[in-house]
Amino acid sequence: MGLVTIQALSALLVLTAYAECTSSDAPSSSTHCCQALVDAGLGERVLFPDDALYQDAVDGHWSLEARLSPKCFVQPHDAGEVAKVVTTLVEANKTELCQFAIRSGGHQTWAGAANIEDGVTLDLAYMNSTTYNPENATASIQPGARWGGVYKTLDALGVAVPGGRAATVGVAGLATGGGNSFYGSREGFVCDNVIRFEVVLASGEIVEADKDNNPDLWQALKGGSGNFGVVTRLDMATLDGIDLWGGVVTYSNDTTQAQIEAMYNFGEEVTNDRYASAISIWQYNTESDANIIISAYDYTKPVPRPAIFDEFLAIPDNTSDSTRITNMTDLTVELEQTPGYRDNFYTITFKNNLEVMEEAIRMHHEYLETIQAADIAGNWTIQTMFQPIPSFFSEHSVEKGGNMLGLERFDDNLILWQTYLAWTEESLDEQFHTWGMNFIDELDSFAESKNASNPFIYLDYAYKAQVPLASYGEENVKKMKAVAAKYDPEGVFQVMVPGGFKISRVGNGEGEDGAAAADKLKKREL
Ligand SMILES: Cc1cc2nc3c(=O)[nH]c(=O)nc-3n(C[C@H](O)[C@H](O)[C@H](O)COP(=O)(O)OP(=O)(O)OC[C@H]3O[C@@H](n4cnc5c(N)ncnc54)[C@H](O)[C@@H]3O)c2cc1C
Ligand SMILES: *[C@@H]1O[C@H](CO)[C@@H](O)[C@H](O)[C@H]1NC(C)=O
Ligand SMILES: *[C@@H]1O[C@H](CO)[C@@H](O)[C@H](O)[C@H]1NC(C)=O
Ligand SMILES: *[C@@H]1O[C@H](CO)[C@@H](O)[C@H](O)[C@H]1NC(C)=O
Ligand SMILES: *[C@@H]1O[C@H](CO)[C@@H](O)[C@H](O)[C@H]1NC(C)=O
Ligand SMILES: *[C@@H]1O[C@H](CO)[C@@H](O)[C@H](O)[C@H]1NC(C)=O
Ligand SMILES: *[C@@H]1O[C@H](CO)[C@@H](O)[C@H](O)[C@H]1NC(C)=O
Ligand SMILES: *[C@@H]1O[C@H](CO)[C@@H](O)[C@H](O)[C@H]1NC(C)=O
Ligand SMILES: *[C@@H]1O[C@H](CO)[C@@H](O)[C@H](O)[C@H]1NC(C)=O
Repeated sequence: MGLVTIQALSALLVLTAYAECTSSDAPSSSTHCCQALVDAGLGERVLFPDDALYQDAVDGHWSLEARLSPKCFVQPHDAGEVAKVVTTLVEANKTELCQFAIRSGGHQTWAGAANIEDGVTLDLAYMNSTTYNPENATASIQPGARWGGVYKTLDALGVAVPGGRAATVGVAGLATGGGNSFYGSREGFVCDNVIRFEVVLASGEIVEADKDNNPDLWQALKGGSGNFGVVTRLDMATLDGIDLWGGVVTYSNDTTQAQIEAMYNFGEEVTNDRYASAISIWQYNTESDANIIISAYDYTKPVPRPAIFDEFLAIPDNTSDSTRITNMTDLTVELEQTPGYRDNFYTITFKNNLEVMEEAIRMHHEYLETIQAADIAGNWTIQTMFQPIPSFFSEHSVEKGGNMLGLERFDDNLILWQTYLAWTEESLDEQFHTWGMNFIDELDSFAESKNASNPFIYLDYAYKAQVPLASYGEENVKKMKAVAAKYDPEGVFQVMVPGGFKISRVGNGEGEDGAAAADKLKKREL
């Protein structure tokens, strides 16, 4: 499998003349916050810029753009230490503002989602164990585990969990933002399979949230991201059997029309065989100077070339094919993304609709040609991606206790769209962010003109100027606001943790909450 394919694929998965209002513009926290952590006895866990391991912690963020320079990192080893970090920072904040960020795998692409210039970055990298509990068929997974590590542990024990599709992506960020996986048709979103979260609240109290204990918090964490506390453990239901069929198939872009039609039909028909998943990516990258299509076909049982993929498999003249019977550890390594770029994702959702899909790929080529014509410095990549979200996904969500995404509001089969841009020159950040946001804005307008738009914005793929939480609908916005107020009355995770998508910002300034605002706000921050 060539580098191009590997890179492209792993982008399974988000700028502008939009004012750069990252957390770096917020009032900076002084070093007294880091000193307070040391004074509280956490000195062994704190990294200052002159510590040898500080740069490794900075590099723990995947996109180069997200590699900010906090005053210090604090790297707790257990939930008790996380609680001590939170209570120490809240206490120190009484003297002078102490802002912090929460990071698990550091794969949210935009700067400031899980990191902070000047403040403290609470880095959960050392809390990365996975423990299988055969007595109740669950796996207890710590938040800073990477999916590759989770699968390696569980594959050896013959069990699986629905999770990320690239090895180094983190567990807690992906799962609290929803989580799409090869198991979506079978089991719903990744978050739907979390039976219990352990959470450190703003008070420092360590609580469990499941269907019986703090059920409002349990539901809110399924899509509501870091708005309510620090997740310190996820207990996920396991599935027996680890073997699956799948891999990556590449094609020339001459096969575009056949690919789009196959993807459209797959999105309508996958309800008939809920072991299947498919992703199609169009990619151009300057390093290879190749303009190709990359498809990932995966089936969560060890059955080669199942009939549900017939239309894809009939597309002739592929240029490589890695499909095989294998396991998740192996597949997620194949889908790993090469680091070294300033990567960002931009996303919208629309109805499964051929005309919109054709327009999306026409626009992909138009933007590719626009960027080429701009004759910019450095290397860059444009990747665009379709993933079906058929309406029955949310039946699993409802059955498993409910999440915040609100997709059960819709009867249509949907397509999750991602525009993914990556570049090497920092001076081009604003230019690429503008291209990315314009792309999705124009595509969304086209979808609207065909009565095929959908308000949902997938948080895990959203750029910071988007408002995914508002897109979950009015009722869920109210629920999330109520849960934040109940479990974090002083707003620690809203004000002291400025990064990530904040429920307190939804609806503010417009005098209205949720769905009414969502339409206006889905592409823009207030
Ligand atoms: C190469 C690549 C592959 C991907 N593949 C997939 C995929 O297959 N499926 C999919 O659905 N998505 C995928 N994504 C998107 C991915 O879900 C998001 O990037 C997600 O944010 C990654 O989780 P993380 O823990 O690494 O995030 P981080 O960047 O660490 O965190 C993301 C957000 O969650 C908050 N957060 C993190 N940990 C906690 C915690 N313990 N408690 C409370 N809040 C927390 C952070 O503060 C931040 O706002 C992929 C992304 C990349 C770059
Ligand atoms: C932290 O300090 C800021 C600035 O003084 C204040 O506005 C905020 O309410 C404080 N937060 C908490 C949780 O104490
Ligand atoms: C499953 O079993 C383990 C080990 O006995 C226990 O710690 C855990 O709480 C159980 N999980 C659930 C969800 O019941
Ligand atoms: C957990 O993190 C440590 C420290 O970075 C690392 O050495 C170890 O390999 C990781 N474990 C897993 C299972 O990924
Ligand atoms: C997973 O697949 C890889 C590649 O085929 C193989 O080397 C490894 O042994 C498999 N793991 C398990 C636990 O079967
Ligand atoms: C293939 O890519 C080229 C170059 O961007 C583009 O002009 C052409 O329209 C694409 N072909 C199809 C069938 O989309
Ligand atoms: C890819 O092409 C080869 C050679 O023609 C063929 O044998 C294989 O079945 C094709 N794979 C897919 C997934 O279509
Ligand atoms: C771009 O990629 C080429 C080919 O891999 C490499 O030689 C070159 O150094 C890269 N340039 C930059 C600015 O990264
Ligand atoms: C628009 O789509 C919805 C389904 O999403 C449908 O109910 C409605 O009739 C359509 N309207 C028009 C004018 O086609």
